[in-house]
Amino acid sequence: MTDTIFVLNGPNLNLLGTREPEIYGHDTLDDIAGQLEDRAQAMGLAIDLRQSNHEGHLIDWLHEAQALPAKAVILNAGAFTHTSIALYDAIKAIRTPVIEVHLSNPHARETFRHISRISPVAHGTISGFGALSYLLALEAAARL
Ligand code: DQA
Repeated sequence: MTDTIFVLNGPNLNLLGTREPEIYGHDTLDDIAGQLEDRAQAMGLAIDLRQSNHEGHLIDWLHEAQALPAKAVILNAGAFTHTSIALYDAIKAIRTPVIEVHLSNPHARETFRHISRISPVAHGTISGFGALSYLLALEAAARL
């Protein structure tokens, strides 16, 4: 059976491509999905990419990742990264490895972005490489 990698995206990431392109680049989330699908196919993996502006959806999908089970989760939690104890709890509650991803480097930005609630429970973090952050996370997920 083909292993599936969940790629979960939080608030405002549906606007990629037009949202602050000087920070997040010009690729849309569909562009990123296409790049991930091509790479995943070459590695014999399947991608299930989702986006929601609602914290509870991300939590439900983390639970689903374990139930399925998915091989790993690549998670760009957007601004929930910096605020969500519920996401911290959800990641801690599942055994599925979660790779935290950011397009930008939050540590090079406003101080409120320097705290990640989810880093302590993530398997690892990749940030600062634009859309490439997702592909690097896929490489890491494949090797887990
Ligand atoms: C982000 C960084 C977060 O600080 C921000 O709130 C986002 C996107 C990134 O991918 O660089 O929405 O997660």
